[in-house]
Amino acid sequence: MISRALASALLLLAGLSCHAQSWAWDDGTVPFVVSPEEVVDRMLRIADIGPADRVIDLGSGDGRIVIGAAARGARALGIDIDPSLVDKARGRAAAAGMTERATFRSEDLFDTDLSGATVVTMYLLPEVNLKLRPKLLRLAPGTRVVSHDWNMGDWEPDETIELRTPEKPVGLGGKSRVHLWIIPSDARGRWVADIPQHGGRWEFEIAQQYQAVSVRSTVAGNERDLTVRATRLRGQEIKMLVTGLVGGKAWNQFFKGTVSGDRMTGEVLVSDGDQQRTIPWTATRKR
Ligand SMILES: C[S@@+](CC[C@H](N)C(=O)[O-])C[C@H]1O[C@@H](n2cnc3c(N)ncnc32)[C@H](O)[C@@H]1O
Repeated sequence: MISRALASALLLLAGLSCHAQSWAWDDGTVPFVVSPEEVVDRMLRIADIGPADRVIDLGSGDGRIVIGAAARGARALGIDIDPSLVDKARGRAAAAGMTERATFRSEDLFDTDLSGATVVTMYLLPEVNLKLRPKLLRLAPGTRVVSHDWNMGDWEPDETIELRTPEKPVGLGGKSRVHLWIIPSDARGRWVADIPQHGGRWEFEIAQQYQAVSVRSTVAGNERDLTVRATRLRGQEIKMLVTGLVGGKAWNQFFKGTVSGDRMTGEVLVSDGDQQRTIPWTATRKR
């Protein structure tokens, strides 16, 4: 028969292992666990951080992401609720000779003004990411968001990489994921382009959820919709591969453009499998 002392020890262990799996504190804040340096490097690389960037790391811990971003020439700010970690991060930034570009502030990350950031990084928890999501989606199109391990619910990442990280005591069982999202422009609605060299009036009806777009396209003189075979919206950049009859002949049209407010401008590569040419195009959104 199991002794009372052993039973309590087992209960305690069970409690500890539950705690290890779900490591949020009761108030939803996130304890300090470092990202392995290799993961930090992947986070900085997937965001393609360089001297033009303004980086904010939400929950900056010992400052390693901020210091890494500063070493790539960016101006980087770390936010942490724990003042002793802010002190530690400042000490590490000083030791790395990065005090000018790597700064730290003790603050609740939900109060942080993110508006000037070109890159936001985080190693938090799924529920914290979800709480931040509406604020992130309001950032300027093209802003990159990078999260170690945790996703954003039904907002799919633009890119994900996975690597083995046996040194990590928590999370995905000896693995790390690095997710990248690029804040998309708002491309939804009806757009009209005039391309006199190729078909005349083109219309695009765009539906959008996050960065996923589905497009219907018509061209003057063609009663049926054209076939939109592939699309991508990445920040402000939109790509659409459209096939179908234009002027009574079968063509491939690869539209590439920039969405800015109610205008899209770019180039379309037109080919019939034999010859090809590139034509500039501009579309405006009809409200
Ligand atoms: C998992 S650690 C990540 C540390 C570092 N970013 C890294 O990847 O190595 C999460 C950090 O978030 C901080 N934190 C937790 N809740 C916070 C909040 N509400 N506001 C600011 N920082 C918070 C913790 O103090 C901790 O340092």
